[in-house]
Amino acid sequence: MNNLTVIDHPLIKAKITQMRDVNTTTKMFGELVDEISGLMCYEITRDLEVEEIEIETPITKTKGYRIKGSDLAIIPILRAGLGMVKGIHQLIPTAKIGHIGLYRDHDTLQPVEYLCKLPNDLEHRNVILVDPMLATGGSAVKAIEILKERGAKSIRLASLVGCPEGVAAVHNTYPDVPIYLAAMDEKLNEKGYIVPGLGDAGDRLFGTK
Ligand code: PRP
Ligand code: URA
Repeated sequence: MNNLTVIDHPLIKAKITQMRDVNTTTKMFGELVDEISGLMCYEITRDLEVEEIEIETPITKTKGYRIKGSDLAIIPILRAGLGMVKGIHQLIPTAKIGHIGLYRDHDTLQPVEYLCKLPNDLEHRNVILVDPMLATGGSAVKAIEILKERGAKSIRLASLVGCPEGVAAVHNTYPDVPIYLAAMDEKLNEKGYIVPGLGDAGDRLFGTK
């Protein structure tokens, strides 16, 4: 599929399997989300442009690199997206962090917005939108709409577990937004949950329902 990267790595495969396990505790689940997000960051940022700079080591002057242009923004979709922030932020400490609060209405499965706090220079930033689950795609599509309305020009979406329905929803609406997944699952069930999936990511991360 166009503009879709399912990251194929043994560490990610093994850690996603541990996350799926119904016996994995809240503490362990959070640690795994953190670790997988960090591992994914390597691939998500692969195409960032760098520029040459001059530095001085204790031995001599030399040339090196820095990320070109202005910094990044990491935008989690609350609540579950919060779990993915630390692993990425550790690797890109200059990134600003914005928040988009959305929850899925249990009956309609439509996203409901309850919070939006974003960096005010989004148009100059590469945005990494994070949410562990890409199910119907409704939340991701809504979040991308909000980001574009606020001027974001470069957006990439990172989710841990996706399914064909969610990927199609994002691609059909925003074909310019690349999607990065740690796992592509089979389908959605009649309640809008990813199968085999891992259940409700927010509930498992925070231990609340
Ligand atoms: C979950 C998940 C995504 C959304 C995915 O959030 O974290 O945001 O569902 O579903 P979709 O692709 O069908 O929109 P939820 O609404 O359960 O809120 P939470 O993160 O607060 O638990
Ligand atoms: N949201 C989740 O947290 N899990 C799913 O399977 C679908 C939506």
